Amino acid sequence: MDGATPRYHQLKAMLREGIRAGAWRPGDLIPSERALSDRHGVSRMTARQSVTELVQEGMLYRKQGRGTFVAWPRIAQGLAALTSFTEEMEARGLRPGSRVLDQRVRPATDAEAVRLQLRPGTSVCAVRRLRLADDAPLAVECAVLGFPGCEHLGRADLAGGSLYALLAARFGVIPHAAEQEIAAGRGDAETASLLGIAPGDPVLLLRRTAFTDRDHPFEYAESVYRADAYTFHTRLVRAGTSVSG
Ligand code: GLP
Repeated sequence: MDGATPRYHQLKAMLREGIRAGAWRPGDLIPSERALSDRHGVSRMTARQSVTELVQEGMLYRKQGRGTFVAWPRIAQGLAALTSFTEEMEARGLRPGSRVLDQRVRPATDAEAVRLQLRPGTSVCAVRRLRLADDAPLAVECAVLGFPGCEHLGRADLAGGSLYALLAARFGVIPHAAEQEIAAGRGDAETASLLGIAPGDPVLLLRRTAFTDRDHPFEYAESVYRADAYTFHTRLVRAGTSVSG
């Protein structure tokens, strides 16, 4: 450590560099304050200050009684464009992945039939997937697909890629518009364990009904996103003013 810059600042920069370089990945436990102070020849207070500032900046997070971990960089997602998970991750240079938790063709429930404008009991394909970015879990998505031929989705390979790309290529179903709402919630025990968070931790609940260009709803999806991994943003324009400029 050099003499000119405050020591906590230098330790902070080293920790930040370690995270950037991938020495610690999101979700990894970083060394304790005691280990940091021993290893870098700084006081416990200096180590604590460095870690605390990185926690305040959102780069690290503390779990009571368990230590300090590397946080997931937040994904800033616009709210105006209709995109797929795969497109969102690829646009950020992240490798999208999926683990299929359940995939089955079954009769639509009454509520699903209303949302998808189907007769009650029509076959739909329900797909529940854990969505990953660079192998880190980000969301659990449960999509119910209903359109002519959707029963063939029951055996489609959804682990390898994009559902929306498959719908377009195999079924000519092209997402055109969607209604989406976002609400705050808490992860139940199963979802939390899939997402690598503690039961009761905050999550974002997304509900999307997606339509084809003929205005047919083909998907109703309920997704649970890690609240610490996402920021949604939108541009607001005051009513009565011009959109340009
Ligand atoms: C988003 C939506 C889901 C949709 C999914 C498709 O995550 N919230 O409703 O099913 O994208 O993503 P992909 O084409 O990557 O499977």
